Amino acid sequence: MSDSVRNSQQHIKLFIPGPVEVRPEILDAQAGWMFGHRMPEAAELIGRIQPKLMEVFKTKNPVLIQAGTGSLFWEAAVRNCVSEGGRILHARSGAFSQKWESIVRSCGRETTVIDFEWGQPVLPGPLVEELAKGGYEAIAFVHNETSTGVTNPVQEIAAAVRALPGGEEIIIMVDSVSGISGAELHFDEWDLDIALTSSQKAFALPPGLGMCAVSDRAYAKAETVPNRGYYGDLLTLRKMMKKFNTPNTSPVPMLLALDVQLDAMMAETIEGRWERHIAQRDMTVAYITSKGFALYGDPAYASPTVSNFANTLEIDINALNAFLRTKGMIISNGYGDLKGKAFRIAHMGDITEVDLEELFAAIDEFLST
Ligand SMILES: Cc1ncc(COP(=O)(O)O)c(C=O)c1O
Repeated sequence: MSDSVRNSQQHIKLFIPGPVEVRPEILDAQAGWMFGHRMPEAAELIGRIQPKLMEVFKTKNPVLIQAGTGSLFWEAAVRNCVSEGGRILHARSGAFSQKWESIVRSCGRETTVIDFEWGQPVLPGPLVEELAKGGYEAIAFVHNETSTGVTNPVQEIAAAVRALPGGEEIIIMVDSVSGISGAELHFDEWDLDIALTSSQKAFALPPGLGMCAVSDRAYAKAETVPNRGYYGDLLTLRKMMKKFNTPNTSPVPMLLALDVQLDAMMAETIEGRWERHIAQRDMTVAYITSKGFALYGDPAYASPTVSNFANTLEIDINALNAFLRTKGMIISNGYGDLKGKAFRIAHMGDITEVDLEELFAAIDEFLST
């Protein structure tokens, strides 16, 4: 059945940074019989998922899951972990950190922004200098800026925050939407409070599931914050997750797919998955730069999940993509202002070296015409 649906579509292999390519076995896993979210089957499924998910996030607390996407937890983190009228320090280094900052304001919280040049990493110095002035309840930043292809040094930033007087109280919120499972992150060991992600990035699942690790510190903070809302109330989500349930209807097909994908991740090992992503990044950077394009941004912080290249040869990126489509593939134009000036190739999730070689052969063909 699922095959016949797929056979009626053109398959375009996704080298865009989300949604990413999903393996047929994972697509098939979604097609199981439905069950109700209060039936024992649901709790058994989430019970199977949870230890594996905790290993991916490297945390001892159950990871919250909710139908939605990463944006849901952007808002939930702010509404649960910062008091109304409270202040957050926000590091802005690309389109997604910029979006998150606008959500902070839409939730009625005060934000101070420290800007980092697009393509450059978020570094702890300016952040701790600002935090040291006092009055901040939280700091928010992005682990892997999908718009620039830069991975920020989360461990270094968190350690610098904790070293401040009063730093133990500050809630550290990390958007790892295009990071977790592809880029190294140790939630407990790095002493983070929130790490949120979406299913359609390095997890290589269809879109539709938000996932978020939450520390005891963040839960304790949420207990002091009124008006946390309903859909993203971390305390309700935690309460239900203790019973391997979700407060509202669970996205059963997504959970079936997640269970199967987590088995594959456990077989690969999470450390093995991080290493594979680095190898695929290195392969992509070596090939594209050999053609005369330059890596956009600081190579020391080049993302293991998505590479961003300056269009130094001034090719027509839309024409390249139109050509790639004829071969059943697609890459991504530069984000926002970088449209036409840069292009991005995602090498995250279940993309393999063989997939990348096919892409490079097609790019070769385009460049030689
Ligand atoms: C770094 C980052 N944060 C947040 C988001 C928003 O995620 P979602 O669309 O899953 O809500 C994205 C989407 O691309 C992203 O790349």
